[in-house]
Amino acid sequence: MDEDEFRKQFMKKSVFRQASSLDLSYVPEKLYCRDEALKALIFNFRRIMDEREQPSVNCLILGKGGVGKTCTARYFGKNFRTIAIENDIKLFLEYFNCINFRSKSKIIRELLAKYQHGSGRGFSDDEALKLILSQLIREQGYMLLVIDEIHLLKSDDVLALLDIAETFGHQNAKLSLLLISRSKDWMNIETERILSRLNEKIILKPYNFEESMQILQYRSDLAFKENVIDNINLLAMIGQIVVDHKNMRHGIEILRKSGSYCDKEGLDQITADIIREASNDVYPTFRNDIIDQLKDQEILALYGIVRSLINKGEPFTLVDDAFEEYKAISENYSIEPHVKMSFRKYVRQLTQLKIVASKTVRIEDATRGRHLEITLLDIPARKLMELLEDIIEKKFGT
Ligand SMILES: Nc1ncnc2c1ncn2[C@@H]1O[C@H](COP(=O)(O)OP(=O)(O)O)[C@@H](O)[C@H]1O
Ligand SMILES: [Mg+2]
Repeated sequence: MDEDEFRKQFMKKSVFRQASSLDLSYVPEKLYCRDEALKALIFNFRRIMDEREQPSVNCLILGKGGVGKTCTARYFGKNFRTIAIENDIKLFLEYFNCINFRSKSKIIRELLAKYQHGSGRGFSDDEALKLILSQLIREQGYMLLVIDEIHLLKSDDVLALLDIAETFGHQNAKLSLLLISRSKDWMNIETERILSRLNEKIILKPYNFEESMQILQYRSDLAFKENVIDNINLLAMIGQIVVDHKNMRHGIEILRKSGSYCDKEGLDQITADIIREASNDVYPTFRNDIIDQLKDQEILALYGIVRSLINKGEPFTLVDDAFEEYKAISENYSIEPHVKMSFRKYVRQLTQLKIVASKTVRIEDATRGRHLEITLLDIPARKLMELLEDIIEKKFGT
């Protein structure tokens, strides 16, 4: 490529007005169809502004994947902070996703590092929390902690977080919690005691067709230039897919993929075929939003699983076979492979994250009697392999 050609590539027109508005972490200016949830959140948390003793409030948002839990919580947090500051309340807003912070300790350490500038090493969780809480009082501040995918923490950890006001005294706890979880996963950690510490459980239902259309219209207006989608029937196609899968993320992904396809092919409009093609490329239960946030060892373990699935050409593989592939790939990148017991742990974690499914099965004529079978959910092994190769090359390639 010479310089002229290089420049030409930059001159190419794009269908996007603002491509980043379709990133999964993007929080839109307006939130449609979640007024009830927002009103419930406002009703609960406004007490922090209205009451002199600034109580500790704990709410939980529940719902299936892709119903807008994260988006609603972030939208609420952002706007609540603005209003709080207008009311002279120094509100610190912190968002944690438990995919990145898998225990209460990790979250507390991170907070301590941020607010106390120390490593927090040598402190117990309670000591560290005490430091954070006294800092808040000293600064006359208040903290709203949003914790996403909370089911990845142990039940005890969740209870301990919800119990902060009880443990340290209500007047000392200038801190409230907004927790988020998928309904099904939440059932595994919910206990009577946890329930009794929640001010409200807010359940988000999947969007119906009209709601999906309203949201898609808004999001596509933000993302695309005029006339890129010039026919309401095209949006209706996507709206129907969203409703079929009960998942808005699916719709946003289709918009993003369709736009990228146009840019790559130099087209200036999205067509029905492009949408069909893009929707074939989106897997309803596959969590493409978390795949690049996995830990190094989990990525390698997943790669081992995928490679052994492809080698076998069967719908499931066994933990021993996947382990062999995992060792090979680790060595390829000069990474010391962990022992099989750890590997099993990574497989369990991937199962818990719903990236793979695994189950222990009995086998008739084997001496050991049981083994662990692993399968993928709805993404084909080859597709996942392509994704992982990219990530691994970025992470470990030289
Ligand atoms: N009411 C809404 N208005 C605009 N965009 C939305 C709305 N609800 C969901 N989305 C978008 O749909 C996608 C999935 O939402 P998300 O909050 O990640 O779902 P969940 O956390 O429930 O899995 C995100 O890209 C989000 O921005
Ligand atoms: Mg979410």
